[in-house]
Amino acid sequence: MNPQDVLAELTALQAGDVPTHGGATMAYVYDSGRAGVDELAAAAQAAFQWTNALDPTAFPSVARIENDLVGAALALLGGGPEAVGTLTSGGTESCQLAVLAAREQWRARGGTGRPRLLLPVTAHAAFRKAAHLFGIEAVDVPVDPGTCRADPAAVVRLLDERTVLVVVSAPSYPHGVLDPVAEIAGLAAAAGVPCHVDACIGGWVLPFLDDVPEPFDLSVPGVTSLSVDLHKYGYAPKGVSVLLTATPELRHAHWFSTAGWPGYPVVNPTLAGTRPAGAMAAAWAVHRWLGTAGYRELACTARRATVELTQGVAGIAGLRVVGRPAATLVALAEDGPDGVDVLNLADEMTARGWLLQPQPPFAQPGGNLPATLHLTVTAATAGRVDALLGDLADAARAAAALPRPVADPELVAAAATIDPATLSVAEVEGLLELAGISGGALPERMAPVHALVSALPRPVAERLLAGVLGRVYRPTVSG
Ligand SMILES: Cc1ncc(COP(=O)(O)O)c(C=O)c1O
Repeated sequence: MNPQDVLAELTALQAGDVPTHGGATMAYVYDSGRAGVDELAAAAQAAFQWTNALDPTAFPSVARIENDLVGAALALLGGGPEAVGTLTSGGTESCQLAVLAAREQWRARGGTGRPRLLLPVTAHAAFRKAAHLFGIEAVDVPVDPGTCRADPAAVVRLLDERTVLVVVSAPSYPHGVLDPVAEIAGLAAAAGVPCHVDACIGGWVLPFLDDVPEPFDLSVPGVTSLSVDLHKYGYAPKGVSVLLTATPELRHAHWFSTAGWPGYPVVNPTLAGTRPAGAMAAAWAVHRWLGTAGYRELACTARRATVELTQGVAGIAGLRVVGRPAATLVALAEDGPDGVDVLNLADEMTARGWLLQPQPPFAQPGGNLPATLHLTVTAATAGRVDALLGDLADAARAAAALPRPVADPELVAAAATIDPATLSVAEVEGLLELAGISGGALPERMAPVHALVSALPRPVAERLLAGVLGRVYRPTVSG
């Protein structure tokens, strides 16, 4: 085959994907809408695609790139003179390393028993994964069911000598609201516990806005680390995030160093060995080109669009905005007794060319959280807010006319008797068939699937969801 044909095949593969540009895909992707960003990022990425950031002594260029980006993040996000940082592969890895560092420091202080991580229920799932990987108990901190902000009184109740870290979000992914960072960081500090601010999604937006309700960054007393993703509102290609730590000691606590084998001495600041430098170089190039003024303009554009969107939703019967969106994320929930089911609404919006992300209802002490639709607003959506609101109003009318998705009670009752840990892959397949998720393709309307997942006991739902993905990942049989 010639290279053009190979590339044409790849392009054809993308035909079934949601669009990465244009502002209608309101999760997963971040589009600046600026001409030239893609080309610059691609050229930078290409120049560094064979470089290995594993060894900055062999490739001093990547150390410079990393130092420049960490320095920029520290300047933006309140880093003090001692503060340092690390480039990682994404938000999940930054969150994992923050948890690992805190656990290591707790152990070094003499901590014993099973370590605990205090997590607002709205903290990103990446922290649950970190707890799972690093043998830590994830302890749920409830949020206020009205504001969806983490409850400081619960933090006070839950802090103990086994707590290695308290997490807050700036803002949270599910609802886009800012946790009471200063209050919780202060409580943690008083108990001698570090506090991580997860600003993965908001950290490259909030510093540029003039209506941020309260301080949230590394300058807040008690905040010991902060994560911010360049591959989100830094408008860089996928694969680059920053973890900032208030001290070099805390950064060292997530490094791994060994001379205990006959090969080259290893020092890994992150979880990976070989580190791709392409995304780092692309982030560096985009950052250098956009500069502070460019980022401020993009952040303010996305924020204005977010405010217009929230104001417009107020005029759509049966829908409301949850809490007070602090940055550029919005969660929509059903409003009132004649409210619109948001799972049906998601399907209706998909049919109109938008991707709004359904989030299931969530039970927690102190008041359950409703099902919501998540919208990540980027600069590219800014020019389309009227179209979005028009489609939302139309889709809300259509969704209101649909029956509410309900889970089959027999299936739910049967699921309650299942121990997911004992299920074989074949049994999971059988259950998926029973649930009406048959064959390779997912149903066109996902509302019934989401309704079923929410009605099942959480561990069963988690196993079935993994089963769905197991079907997606089936090796191609090559001839
Ligand atoms: C607040 C927050 N933290 C962590 C993450 C995880 O980031 P990633 O998907 O880059 O691993 C996200 C992703 O949306 C996020 O919004």
